[in-house]
Amino acid sequence: MALAYSLFYKFYLGVAAHLQTEPVMDISATNPLCEGPCGSSRVFQAVDPSQIEADPVGRSVPHLSSQQISTGQAMFIDDWPRAEDELFLAFVRSKRAHAKILSVDNSEALTIPGVVEYIDHRDVQGSNLWGMYSPNHEVFASEKVTSYGQVIGGVLAESRDIARRAAQKVKVEYEDLKPILTIKQAIEAKSFHFDPLELHYGDVEAGLQASDHVTEGELSIGGQEHFYLETQSVLVTPKLENDEIELLASSQDLTFLHGEISKIIGVSKNRIVCRTKRNGGGFGGKQTCPLLVCGPAAVAAKKTGKKVRCVFNREEDITITGKRHQMLAKYKVGFMSSGKILALKLDLYANGGYSPDETDSVLTCSILNAVNVYKIPNVHLRGHGCFTNIPARGGLRGYGAPQAIFIIENIMTELAIHTGLEQEQIREMNFQQEGDVNHWNQTLENVNIQKCWDTCVEQSQFQSRKMSVEDFNRKNRWKKRGTAMIPVSFAIGSFPRFLAQAGALVSIYVDGSVLVSHGGVELGQGLHTKMTQVAARALSMPIEKILISETSTDISTNTTALAAGATTVYCSEGLSPLFKDKLLPPMYVIVPSHRLRVPIWTVSVCLLQDFTREEMMIMTFQKNSGKGMDYFSYGAICAEVEIDNLTGEHQVLQVDIVMDVGRSLNPYIDIGQIEGGFVQGYGLMTMEQLKMTTEGQPLNFGPSTYRIPTVRNIPHKFNVTLLKDCPNEKAIYSSKGIGEPPLLLSVAVFLAIKSAIRAVRRDAGLGDHFRLDCPATVESIRLACQDRFTKLLDVDDQPDPAFHVC
Ligand code: MTE
Repeated sequence: MALAYSLFYKFYLGVAAHLQTEPVMDISATNPLCEGPCGSSRVFQAVDPSQIEADPVGRSVPHLSSQQISTGQAMFIDDWPRAEDELFLAFVRSKRAHAKILSVDNSEALTIPGVVEYIDHRDVQGSNLWGMYSPNHEVFASEKVTSYGQVIGGVLAESRDIARRAAQKVKVEYEDLKPILTIKQAIEAKSFHFDPLELHYGDVEAGLQASDHVTEGELSIGGQEHFYLETQSVLVTPKLENDEIELLASSQDLTFLHGEISKIIGVSKNRIVCRTKRNGGGFGGKQTCPLLVCGPAAVAAKKTGKKVRCVFNREEDITITGKRHQMLAKYKVGFMSSGKILALKLDLYANGGYSPDETDSVLTCSILNAVNVYKIPNVHLRGHGCFTNIPARGGLRGYGAPQAIFIIENIMTELAIHTGLEQEQIREMNFQQEGDVNHWNQTLENVNIQKCWDTCVEQSQFQSRKMSVEDFNRKNRWKKRGTAMIPVSFAIGSFPRFLAQAGALVSIYVDGSVLVSHGGVELGQGLHTKMTQVAARALSMPIEKILISETSTDISTNTTALAAGATTVYCSEGLSPLFKDKLLPPMYVIVPSHRLRVPIWTVSVCLLQDFTREEMMIMTFQKNSGKGMDYFSYGAICAEVEIDNLTGEHQVLQVDIVMDVGRSLNPYIDIGQIEGGFVQGYGLMTMEQLKMTTEGQPLNFGPSTYRIPTVRNIPHKFNVTLLKDCPNEKAIYSSKGIGEPPLLLSVAVFLAIKSAIRAVRRDAGLGDHFRLDCPATVESIRLACQDRFTKLLDVDDQPDPAFHVC
């Protein structure tokens, strides 16, 4: 209603301006897209001039699958040709968030022509339970359902349409139980997955007492759908002998999948092969979630002896799978009038859904990243995993770090308002310095925060832009602009330490061509391209001679969950001994060596992550000491936005990013990751909103009901610079992991929007302090810009009570 009034008012202002009865107002938006050429820039790193021309490491080699992907020739699971007797599996899904299953009647479904079989928990020959850290997911819900969309059974049919239609005909009778859906409800009901994770550093109470000022508050950040393009998919092929079975799956963690399938179908791992050529995007959603399709499909293939395909459509994918955790923060901060922070007490509540899954490790990541780049001498952090009746939450790019950075950067803004200092000033004065010890007692080395910050200030011309924004705001009433500049750091490493390992198998053929297999999965992040570059250097041969065809558990065995943007580093290190220890002869002696019966055809390398082996992970929250992570990726961003305070719309006018990627293995790919990561985070900050009814029924079914960024939302000017002269000796060829950290930069857009809203509120005589939860959607921006229309309607800041933003 406020929007409707506002639009009429805009119309009135337009007419009044036309008739010149009122001064011309700024109602016609500055449409930056019409302002002329974009003028975005990408600043690459140059390779060392002494590097030989043929060595591709550090050069901007295009993504090796880019042509296949952009022309539609790249193979994804559902592109694999259909076998004649293949069956399609569709699921019977729970229509309750929490209920006992009283009966299941599949009689009508089984009469539909083309339906072959019905399967449920009684068909599972091994264990009906699976899980990342403990087995707590049921392959098929047996006695009760604990979330909407949970899989109860499956219909196997000759075609996907028949299978889906038949699954709809299966009747389930429920006895309803009271669901717990939101964090607030979980706190009230004391419904948690585990005891809180807790980290103490210094003495927080003493720090709060010694502070000139103490402020406290609450803030929340919503969840996020992975929205990979290839939905969860699998093609299972049972072999004719020895119980052997093969899964061609869209999974980014084949070893986990392999192990769980072995338990579910009760067959040892050596009889199971899990393969993938590539995933059509994963973003963390192909780590545990593939079990939701692969588990039932493997059971179905075992039961029928037939090939089984299961491919989610978008609606199934979005309603069944887990997402990024929504979090609520309760904080208390002590600080001096000078702006120095003395103490931070933070309770983070994560909505974990019906299974603990990755909630523990996501919260761990939040705690490790909770102070971002700031030196805070007294810290008490707690992470609470809420047990609720929504699909189990998992990892999504950045893991728990985006939520943590969102909270601490909002706190920094609040402190600037309290102290009357500029936001940049208060941030900079609290930066960690070289040799500082962080809140988990790790001594910091190669702290490139200031370097990124200074480069960003200079490249964005921050000070003059800030002044022009203030000028714009003085002159305009219905449009306001805001800027924000923040630093980010992201701890890279694996936790626990044994995860930091990988391997590679190199097969050399007498024609001089090479096939490399390693444990990492290509998700679009350019892993295979970078690995090919590394192999080319190791073997002193051109990249055209090297192929990475697929990832498979029969070749790369016992790999670990590769994530945290560190896969390239770990897998490359699997190859690096070839280079360092000269395990292979140079290419020109390969054929002669073969004639002399010198074994040159394969070299298998499997090793611990090389660079930090001596500092094995010893840190625990209880001890809070030791080297928790390998190194940090740093970055800085300046964002400028414009909001239309009558409609709540916004446009990102300019973004300047400076990112420390060490010595880039491939600047093309790294800049692509920075741009992509930022845009994904921008969706989280401004438009992606998970909604459900008060009964827990999801209300997001696809792009029409779940808004993700489109080309229209790309910043008008998008400048990305790779920081120069910052080699990182903790990773392969001095590089750094880049897949996840850039997502954190998007918090700056949220803060810039908040700053623009503050300018609106100042005009209306309202105070600078106000709560704005994430995402800053069109609706919430409009409502935060309080004016006579919002007041007239008595609209408060609360969302529609019929919907829970989970
Ligand atoms: N880029 C594309 N195109 N597709 C993806 O699925 N996943 C992101 C990031 N970039 C992803 C991506 C996530 S969640 C991670 S952890 C890293 O890539 C993995 O990168 P790595 O192989 O360097 O570890």
